[in-house]
Amino acid sequence: MIEVNLNPVSMIAGTGSYTPGKILTNADLEKMVDTSDEWIRTRTGIRERAIVENGTVTSDLCKEAALKALEEAKVLPKNLDAIIVATITGDVRFPATACYVQEKIGAVNAVAFDLSAACSGFIYALAIADNMLKAPENKNILIIGTEILSSITNWKDRNTAILFGDGAGACTIKKSDGKSGILGTYIQSDGRLSKLLTMQAGGTKYPDPKDITDEKLKYISMEGREVFKHAVKKMVDAAKLIIREVGLKNSDIKLLIPHQANIRIIEAVAKKIKIPMEKVFVNVDKYGNTSAASIPIALDEARKEGKINKEDICLMVVFGGGFTWGSAVVRF
Ligand code: UT7
Repeated sequence: MIEVNLNPVSMIAGTGSYTPGKILTNADLEKMVDTSDEWIRTRTGIRERAIVENGTVTSDLCKEAALKALEEAKVLPKNLDAIIVATITGDVRFPATACYVQEKIGAVNAVAFDLSAACSGFIYALAIADNMLKAPENKNILIIGTEILSSITNWKDRNTAILFGDGAGACTIKKSDGKSGILGTYIQSDGRLSKLLTMQAGGTKYPDPKDITDEKLKYISMEGREVFKHAVKKMVDAAKLIIREVGLKNSDIKLLIPHQANIRIIEAVAKKIKIPMEKVFVNVDKYGNTSAASIPIALDEARKEGKINKEDICLMVVFGGGFTWGSAVVRF
């Protein structure tokens, strides 16, 4: 699904992010599984990741990121029309984590719901919020990408334990001021490839955890090499498509913010779409893959580091379980 806005109706007016204080380094992982700092750095680009302490729930991370994104946009929680939380690791089965966020920040007038699109969730949420703001009555929407992946990681499996981290990133989406705006979004899925990246427990397929005899089903499982190939191809396609549909040249793009899963994927995508690495934001070294939180955390850091300024055009591109993928072009 593609959406091009010749006259953008909405804009990103504020960003915020939060990652927990507990840091798990590659050296820590060397003590947990048969791996090495050298292997992890060269194969993934990851040096460390932030992990929650026991007792922290996803909506706690969301609250921290959300309050910063609202403050920057000068939007009071009571003036939010909607809260969309993109996550695959919500607080509980139901209600939606977005409802807990609503309560925690006092957004009494909002509709609150979750969105499940794995790593691509934040770009899906951006596309949906942009469309919701096309109704004149809706004015302010909070979108959050967040995960506590440490809660579904098999800490005995070296194929996956080294990859993931926890965190939250939020954006306040408001009506466009005529200059800034969401210029285009593209989101797509392919359920035929779902088995390559999945977690089987926790749903109706295995209603009773005691029925799960195969330990692997209780955690994230991934065919890394296959996912890698699809990720590069789909992110390249998604980036090229949105650049072409919005009518941009590569030189118009100030910063590319790709999903932070693996530095080798990021470099391959940048090379294939001919964007130099100086124009690519990378923080996978600090946080690993935080799934739906990856792009909004990177976006917030890029803005706070002065890498995106007023009227700069930013391209975001993502790939994740489902499979799901997407891209967005935003003028700040
Ligand atoms: O966010 C959603 C999208 N997710 C992704 O985009 C992740 C995509 N996949 C990847 O990033 C990479 O495939 C991985 C980082 C997961 C793995 O890297 P790879 O270069 O594809 O390695 P591989 O799975 O092909 O494994 C190469 C070797 C194997 O040994 P043999 O069979 O060659 O002897 C693995 O057993 O590396 C071994 N290996 C490890 N060695 C040390 C796998 N994991 C580790 C490890 N430490 N942690």
